Amino acid sequence: MKAYYDTRAPEYDDWWLAEGLHAPAPADWKEERDELIGFLRALPPKRTLDVACGTGFLTRHLQGDVVGLDQSPRMLELAGRYVDVVRGDGVALPFEDDAFERVFTSHFYGHLEEDERARFLAEAERVSVELVVVDAALHGGVERAEWQERELKDGSRWQVYKRFFTPDGLLAELGGGETLFAGRWFVAVRA
Ligand SMILES: C[S@@+](CC[C@H](N)C(=O)[O-])C[C@H]1O[C@@H](n2cnc3c(N)ncnc32)[C@H](O)[C@@H]1O
Repeated sequence: MKAYYDTRAPEYDDWWLAEGLHAPAPADWKEERDELIGFLRALPPKRTLDVACGTGFLTRHLQGDVVGLDQSPRMLELAGRYVDVVRGDGVALPFEDDAFERVFTSHFYGHLEEDERARFLAEAERVSVELVVVDAALHGGVERAEWQERELKDGSRWQVYKRFFTPDGLLAELGGGETLFAGRWFVAVRA
């Protein structure tokens, strides 16, 4: 997953924008994306660590003192336009205990396999009392975890592990909390 995302960095926002290989936008995509952004902008400002911030597409809308962490140098170059960035491993965070008031993460948790999930959750709990997770919504009703074959503009092909969530299913894994956003494409919960 690491090399894939570093290679994908320059074309990553095409996914959020439904451009390039991701055009045309699926039904309601842009409306729901903008609704999600509006919702994130309205969260109370906090000292926040965005784990696996990518290009900073969502990071830039978080209010407060925000730091973006990612493993990919090319992603961080882009996210660095908006916030302070740190290169590091999202499952071994290079920060002291309680260094933040909120850990935020978007479309990262759903790419983690079981052992990494446990490590991420333990690390998030160590550095912050609050965890906000945004991820892909499950549509169709059946729990889904799959290896997807993905292609980039240069024709390269990659295998990527990905899961889809109901808000309740995600909250159950995180040990409880509240649903912040429940859409066709995105879910957001606070643990
Ligand atoms: C699907 S992208 C999500 C980016 C951003 N959060 C968003 O929602 O647009 C996944 C991100 O996770 C990063 N990543 C993957 N494994 C990582 C790890 N172990 N530690 C830190 N970042 C990682 C990738 O570089 C990529 O930027």
